[in-house]
Amino acid sequence: MKTTTSSFLVLLLSLIIITLIILTPTGEAQGTRFGFYSRTCPNVESIVRSTVQSHFQSDPTVAPALLRMHFHDCFVQGCDASILINGPNTEKSAFPNRLLRGFDVIDDAKKQLEASCPGIVSCADILTLAARDSVSLTKGVGWPVPLGRRDGTVSLDSDTNNLPAFTDSIQVQVQKFADKGLNAQDLVTLVGGHTIGTAACQFFSNRLYNFSTTTTTGADPTIDPTFVPQLRALCPQNGDGSRRVALDTGSQNTFDDSYFKNLKNGRGVLESDQKLWTDPATRTIVQRYSGTIRGLFGLRFSVEFARSMVKMSNVGVKTGSQGQIRRVCTAIN
Ligand code: HEM
Repeated sequence: MKTTTSSFLVLLLSLIIITLIILTPTGEAQGTRFGFYSRTCPNVESIVRSTVQSHFQSDPTVAPALLRMHFHDCFVQGCDASILINGPNTEKSAFPNRLLRGFDVIDDAKKQLEASCPGIVSCADILTLAARDSVSLTKGVGWPVPLGRRDGTVSLDSDTNNLPAFTDSIQVQVQKFADKGLNAQDLVTLVGGHTIGTAACQFFSNRLYNFSTTTTTGADPTIDPTFVPQLRALCPQNGDGSRRVALDTGSQNTFDDSYFKNLKNGRGVLESDQKLWTDPATRTIVQRYSGTIRGLFGLRFSVEFARSMVKMSNVGVKTGSQGQIRRVCTAIN
């Protein structure tokens, strides 16, 4: 009887704590707020959502593409849609951004918003909402997005140098996120965005062939040896570097926590991803998502991803009278 009562109390306490975690507001940041367009453009969220959804139906790869685009926007000049500007020497034309896709989705949403509420909704807010919608369309859990970002007027190729690179050590990755006000847990959580989408062979084939002298195959020793032949079959030596491979093997179309389980099993595809597990500085956080640590010390990926996304979506935002509301997302007014 005593054990039943105490198990019941533990269960009750866990439920209360989980509920509190979920209900804790994910945080409005300086300048942005929930319901920013409630009077000026009340249908903004449904217009963005239906646009992303209709593109997603004909090409599901737009979801990971938009999520990545938002990250690359926020890390350069803040989340101000500077990534969307066309032209020579802009962010869009820079090396780390050359494979970004999904620009037409944002242009399409902007066109519809200009028809319903001209001059009101920023491209930066459209991209932020589209990133959130991409997560829910891939069966992830959505979250409320504080709005009110304004669009930037600067977009320079040379500003993209501080984007994280797939060869970066954990120390460098942590530093690059810290520079944006994001901690190591935000880093691990946000890179969990790799639960959807693909990477081109050119970004990881170096791990498959002449990477190491410590393995008989020459492959990166941190890759599960049974995974090496699978990756090699997908990316043959000197083959087509633009061929694309799932970042989360077995579950590339679903926004879930299996990416972290793959890391734990040596099945991370990018070198920077696998290091999140091999480096003790971030391993505990991966453990907390991959089910290695259970109970109250475990973390719920969906809850934490929402929290960290709200933080990232507020990096360096322009609000109030800063910046502008672009007429078209690809050009400064
Ligand atoms: C250390 C940080 C990161 C590094 C080094 C990194 C690197 C990469 C690389 C090399 C690719 C493959 C690109 C391609 O072949 O087109 C990729 C894809 C992707 N990244 Fe990251 N990334 C990082 C963080 C993030 C974050 C914070 C997010 C989102 C919150 C994110 C979301 C994505 C998504 C969704 C894809 C798949 C894109 C697609 O399928 O088109 N990444 N990343």
